[in-house]
Amino acid sequence: MTIVSYYVAQSLDGYIADLSHGVSWLDSIAPNEVVQSFRQPGDTENLFKYEDYLKSVGAIVMGRKTYDFLVQYGSNPYQGIETWVLSESLSAKAPLLPGIQLAPPSMDLKTFVSDLMNRTNKRIWIVGGGDVAAQVLELDLLDEIIVSIAPRTLQAGIPLFRSLNMTSVKNWKLTQTQITENGFVQLCYRK
Ligand SMILES: NC(=O)c1ccc[n+]([C@@H]2O[C@H](COP(=O)([O-])OP(=O)(O)OC[C@H]3O[C@@H](n4cnc5c(N)ncnc54)[C@H](OP(=O)(O)O)[C@@H]3O)[C@@H](O)[C@H]2O)c1
Repeated sequence: MTIVSYYVAQSLDGYIADLSHGVSWLDSIAPNEVVQSFRQPGDTENLFKYEDYLKSVGAIVMGRKTYDFLVQYGSNPYQGIETWVLSESLSAKAPLLPGIQLAPPSMDLKTFVSDLMNRTNKRIWIVGGGDVAAQVLELDLLDEIIVSIAPRTLQAGIPLFRSLNMTSVKNWKLTQTQITENGFVQLCYRK
């Protein structure tokens, strides 16, 4: 069954990027040796290992601001995986990074993600950012949240989920955790 998944790294105080949309605060730090872990019985995937996670992905969705970051980076790191960017401001004629497509203008996000779910039995990775992730959560399409918490605070920035000025309580089940020697806590929650 297809899983719609938000796989992301955040600061200890809940931000995925700094106020200028940068992630350089993550450059010099990455999860190292695992010192403690937990997995629900029967859960065989190693979801925290990026390479293994990527192998489970059949389609990728990101917001335009996250795409801008890839443009600065200079290339598409997801070559070979169907990858979509959501935007109302990018022109349909504007050239995008190779392998990345613009979602149809004025598409309905629920229909768009549901169509992707019908086309792959692998994961749909909501890369982010917090704006797109919040909408997918609000539409009740998100099945999985995999978050790596870095042992750093930023004090301000782009939140894990953009606030939509509404409250909707949802319960999540913890299925995997990992703690690394250098202080990362990695968590996988399922709906
Ligand atoms: N730490 C991590 O693991 C991680 C992961 C991903 C991203 N990030 C960071 O997160 C930051 C961006 O996050 P963000 O929350 O500010 O923005 P975002 O979600 O990446 O992008 C928001 C933009 O996406 C477009 N969009 C969103 N919903 C749409 C919809 N339903 N239909 C059409 N277009 C839609 C709009 O673009 P237009 O304005 O063009 O219409 C909107 O301004 C970046 O700095 C990125 O580096 C960090």
